This record gives sequence, structure tokens and C-alpha cells, in this order.
Amino acid sequence: MSIITEISILEISYLIASVLFIFGLKMLSHPEKARRGNTLAAIGMAMAIVTTILFHKVDGEPIGNIVWILSAIALGTIIGWLIAVKVKMTAMPQLVSLFNGMGGAAAALISLMEFPHISHELIAEHGMMNGHTIAILLGLVIGSVSFAGSMIAFGKLDGRIGDIRASFIRYINMAFLVGIFGFIIYIMTLNPDSSADLMPLAYILLSLSLLYGIFFVMPIGGADMPVVISLLNSFTGVAAAMGGFLYDNQVMLTGGILVGSAGTILTILMCKAMNRSLLNVIIGAFGGGGQSADKEAGAIKEVTLTDAAVLLSYSQRVVIVPGYGLAVAQAQHICHEMEKLLEEKGVIVKYAIHPVAGRMPGHMNVLLAEADVPYEKLIESDEINPELPNTDVVVVIGANDVVNPAAEDDPGSPIYGMPVIKAWEAKNIIVMKRGMGKGYAAIENFLFYNDKTRMLFGNAKDSIQSLIGEIKNL
Ligand code: TAP
Repeated sequence: MSIITEISILEISYLIASVLFIFGLKMLSHPEKARRGNTLAAIGMAMAIVTTILFHKVDGEPIGNIVWILSAIALGTIIGWLIAVKVKMTAMPQLVSLFNGMGGAAAALISLMEFPHISHELIAEHGMMNGHTIAILLGLVIGSVSFAGSMIAFGKLDGRIGDIRASFIRYINMAFLVGIFGFIIYIMTLNPDSSADLMPLAYILLSLSLLYGIFFVMPIGGADMPVVISLLNSFTGVAAAMGGFLYDNQVMLTGGILVGSAGTILTILMCKAMNRSLLNVIIGAFGGGGQSADKEAGAIKEVTLTDAAVLLSYSQRVVIVPGYGLAVAQAQHICHEMEKLLEEKGVIVKYAIHPVAGRMPGHMNVLLAEADVPYEKLIESDEINPELPNTDVVVVIGANDVVNPAAEDDPGSPIYGMPVIKAWEAKNIIVMKRGMGKGYAAIENFLFYNDKTRMLFGNAKDSIQSLIGEIKNL
């Protein structure tokens, strides 16, 4: 096969792969099509990898190290497969962080490997001030920040690392940022015989970036984690796109840009959902100084299963607020069953979906789609809030932070200003949770002490199961 044909095959396959990525990504926006979208994008990626191995030429020669490449692919596939099969839905965010970190590390390693091989002609003509070097250095910095930051995010989501909210960290971070950019500029002003001579500087830049990644994520926590995760995601995309520039590889560039821009859009949406600016999330010490100490908690009132069943069955409008606890209990199917049962009795049932409920973007949508809850029943918080004063019962299932009134009435609270579902505006509130455990932001929730609130303690799945039994007996 002539070289021209091989190059065309490669480019056409990259074009097809890029189109598959775009369609795949588009389909991910709807729970019903998300699985197919994922498969489509994976086919695109597999195609790009296979055609690269078969048709890519290095100095006119086919690529070598085939055994190494195939072994790495096999190893990665087996490990990825095992993890994906075993992972619990609630541990998905940690997994996403871990995988995202691996992408960042790969981008950083590519830069590290390519740095000593910047062409001598390029250096002779422009010194280190050339596009190739910029792509390598940015890939190194962004990739390592993404890797180190994602590892810290993984530790936080997994409950292994706590928050360090000391305000001096923001000064350390600014110093790192200035240091890193200063160092990049310094490297670019140099004029060495070979870029290999500057390898020690590349390692210093790598270390600075890794440290910055750690310090950047360390002070961010609580309700701000979703923003950080999507931001790190976009970093990895941009770092991969740098690799695309470096190798003049269209599919890597498209993939990187898609991940980078999708991550950026998600970051902006998350910031809006939390009513915070990105700068505020990154350098602001999250929220205020803690809960207002002088607030009096009332008494907790419990509800019996029979009373809850009567209340729900004779209501006209019920809104279910699902949260992380619903995912932990895997109560989505039984919850859908309860919703259908109530609808058979003429009750109008809707779900109030908060953008950061659960532990990952769209967590509740995915969970409820899995249980075949019709998509039209899922109503976003700002749309459902005006309906709540006319709602007979709000049933909060395993949600906590997303229904916390402190976001509206406690300026001292870390979540003050975050838009929440105003469950307290409904005529009655039933809260299902196991005990008085706090939510992700680790703060008190005075909704549970509200006069209109009654608690149904227990694992959400068991509580709903028993409630269904009672409703059927009425
Ligand atoms: P949370 O505030 O985390 O509260 C979940 C509640 O569920 C807990 O208070 C817990 O109380 C209860 N629970 C746990 N297991 C349960 C079970 N088996 N049965 C019944 N209840 C159970 O949840 P949320 O309201 O969904 O808020 C999400 C939080 O996570 C926000 O702060 C958000 O910022 C943060 N976050 C979100 C994301 C994304 S992107 N969604 C990512 C990272 C962090 P008990 O222990 O008393 O049962």
C-alpha cells in the first residue's frame, strides 16, 4: 500500500473517530441515549488506536515496540474492566477522579519524554521560544496539576483526606502559580545546544506543578468538590490537546478539546448551581466561619409508617427529593414503585433534582433513569421551588445539604448562598434517613427540626419497602 493511501486511511479514520466522539458526547446529555453514546465514543477511540498502530509512520518506518504497546493496552483493559465491574455506583466520583488523574499523568509523561527531543533545527532557529516547547511545557504543567489534584480529590471523596482550610494556603497557591509561569518564561528565554541539557529544569517544573496540584485542591472541600472535579477534568482535556498539537494528531486534539470544553462548560454550570464564582471556589476559603452557634434546634419528631402512608395516599401533590442516601441504599427501583403506587391512587408525584445531589453531576438523573422513572418527572430545583408551597408532602430521601435552609438564612454557614430545594415551603415534610448523620458539607440541617418535618428513620430502601406495604393496606 502506498504511503499516500496509508496516510489517507489514517486521516479518514481520525476524522471518523472525531465525529464519533462528538456524537457520543452529544448522546451523553440524555440518560436514555448515554450508554449508546459511550459505546460510540469508545468505538471511535478504539478505531483511532488501531489505525495509529497499523498506519502511523515514524521517519517513514512503522511504529516499533508493538509488544510493549499491546501489553500496556491489555493490562489497562483488564484493570479498567475489573474496576468498572466492581465499582459501586456511589464510588463513581472517586473512580472518575482516579481515571482523570491517569489522563493528566499520561499527558505530563508525554511532555516529559518529548522535552529532550525538541528538534535541533527549531532550537537553532528560535531558541526555546517556539510553539513546540510551549505545547510541551503547558502539557507538562497542566497534566501534572491535573494528576496531583485528582489524586487529592480522590482521597477527599473517598474520605481518606480532610480539608485544610487555612487561609495562608491561598498565598502559597498564588506563589506557586507565579513561580510556575515565571519558570516557564525563564525556560523559554534560554538558548541551549539541545533541549536535553535542560532536563533538570523540566523536572523542577514537574515538581512545582505536582505540588501546586496538591495545594490547589487541598483547601477546597464540602459542597465545592463538584466544581473542582469538573475543573480538573477540563485540565486533563487541555493537557491531552497539547499532546495533539505536539504530534500534529487531529484525533488527540479533537478528543482533548472536547474533554476540555465539556469540562469547562460543566464547571461554569456547577458554579452557577452553587451560586459561586470560579475564583471564589478556588481561592475563597469555602463559605463562612461555620454554623451560627446561637441557633436553637427544636425537637425532632418522628412519623409512624401508617401516618406517613395515610399522609401520602391522601395528598394531591407529592414531591420526592432524592439525594446521596438514595444512591447508597440503592432505593431507586423501590422508590419508582412507590411513585407508581401513589399515582394509581390519583396523587401527582414529581422528583426535585438538585444539580449537585449525590456525588457526581447528573447522579440522580442516572440513578432514576436506571429505575425507568420517566424523564419528564424529573424537575430541576429552580423549576420545582415555586411549586412547593402548593405541595402537600415533600419526601426527602437520603438528601441533606441540598435541602438545607442554612443556604438561605444563615450567613455564617459554609453553604450560604447556594441555591437549594426549598423543602420547608411545602405543607408537610417527611425525611427518610438512617439517623441524624450529617451530609457531605458536614453541617447541621435545621430542616429536620422544622415544625412541619417528620422523620422516618431507617435505611431508605427498607423504609420505602415498608411504606409501600402500608400504602397497599390502606
Ligand atoms: P448529602 O448532603 O451528602 O446527605 C446524604 C444523607 O443521606 C446523609 O445525611 C445520610 O444521613 C443519608 N444516608 C446515607 N445513607 C443512607 C441510607 N442508606 N438510607 C437513608 N439515608 C442515608 O447528600 P445530598 O443532599 O445529595 O448532597 C450532596 C452533597 O455532596 C452536596 O454537599 C454536594 O456539594 C456534595 N458533592 C456533590 C457532588 C456532585 S457533582 N453531585 C460531588 C461531590 C460532592 P444518615 O447518615 O443519617 O443516614
